[in-house]
Amino acid sequence: MCTTCVCTWSQSHSALSCYCYSCSRSLLQKYICICLTYLFQLSLCCDLMIVSALAPQWVMPEKMEKQLHAVPASRTVKFRCQATGNPPPSLRWYKNGKEFRKDQRIGGFKFREHMLIMESVVPSDRGNYTCVVENVHGSLKHTFLLDVIERSPHRPILQAGLPANQTAVVGTNVEFVCKVFSDPQPHIQWFKHITVNGSKQGADGHPFVMVLKAAGLNTTEKEMEVLTLKNVSLDDAGEYTCLAENSIGVSYHSAWLTVVDGIGAFKLLKAQKLSRRLMQVSARLVTAWTSKGTVV
Ligand SMILES: *[C@@H]1O[C@H](CO)[C@@H](O)[C@H](O)[C@H]1NC(C)=O
Ligand SMILES: *[C@@H]1O[C@H](CO)[C@@H](O)[C@H](O)[C@H]1NC(C)=O
Ligand SMILES: *[C@@H]1O[C@H](CO)[C@@H](O)[C@H](O)[C@H]1NC(C)=O
Ligand SMILES: *[C@@H]1O[C@H](CO)[C@@H](O)[C@H](O)[C@H]1NC(C)=O
Ligand SMILES: *[C@@H]1O[C@H](CO)[C@@H](O)[C@H](O)[C@H]1NC(C)=O
Repeated sequence: MCTTCVCTWSQSHSALSCYCYSCSRSLLQKYICICLTYLFQLSLCCDLMIVSALAPQWVMPEKMEKQLHAVPASRTVKFRCQATGNPPPSLRWYKNGKEFRKDQRIGGFKFREHMLIMESVVPSDRGNYTCVVENVHGSLKHTFLLDVIERSPHRPILQAGLPANQTAVVGTNVEFVCKVFSDPQPHIQWFKHITVNGSKQGADGHPFVMVLKAAGLNTTEKEMEVLTLKNVSLDDAGEYTCLAENSIGVSYHSAWLTVVDGIGAFKLLKAQKLSRRLMQVSARLVTAWTSKGTVV
């Protein structure tokens, strides 16, 4: 027995008030009305369907949970805001609170099936994208945050001031830290500068160095950013260098370790405070040491 199905949308979705979930025509030219409540689902077959006051509702709210979208430059980005309602709601897009127009973006954008599609995103596409779906009974909005990560064709960038000069007392542990920023995977190494036959550098101008730490199979980039020297002795004093290399080039920073015994500690610490000068990395240091990074 078919009757009339009346679906009344209810904002509260409380157990007793049924709201229209989806209504479609059956093969028998009748209508099927599915009503959902929190407790049960009701399907009715009916000759006539009256759907009253259906304010917009998201069709797939679970797919909209992720708000921040960080994507590499040149990717295609799709934001979907699909909503039902009666009458069918309109959909509008805003970027940073202002209506989003095609002339605002090189290459424009496309709409397809409730989706905003931007091809080949660039850093200027960063921002907040808000969709507003609306009909006479109500409106909904949702904001997606888009971050575009630039591919940086640069040699590694090392944080200024790191590693820092240090003074340590004999027998203590010392940590040198090197902070490396690199888009292509960097390869990090630590050297200690050494003297061979009274000379700091070879005939070719390359400094004599000893590799203290180089990435193995099981070392993370984070681990490589720290060089730990345990129980230092007076012999550990000297110049230490952190070198980072990626597919584009090499960068390095150096720092000095001063090691003092108990008596000398006070005097030297005081002296160092007085002579804080800018670290100068010799421009003559040849960048391609990595291949020479062995004990000479
Ligand atoms: C985007 O939204 C976030 C969080 O709501 C806010 O912190 C940020 O300033 C907004 N950005 C712009 C460009 O409006
Ligand atoms: C250091 O001196 C020794 C002896 O004079 C010599 O055999 C050796 O080749 C020198 N090493 C370097 C790296 O010059
Ligand atoms: C790598 O390191 C982890 C944790 O430090 C350890 O559990 C694992 O056995 C190591 N793998 C190899 C191949 O050394
Ligand atoms: C530290 O080094 C000294 C000599 O270099 C050694 O005698 C001492 O046992 C070491 N201490 C520790 C805790 O390893
Ligand atoms: C670190 O020590 C070296 C050698 O003593 C000195 O030339 C350099 O200026 C110092 N750097 C800083 C930042 O103090």
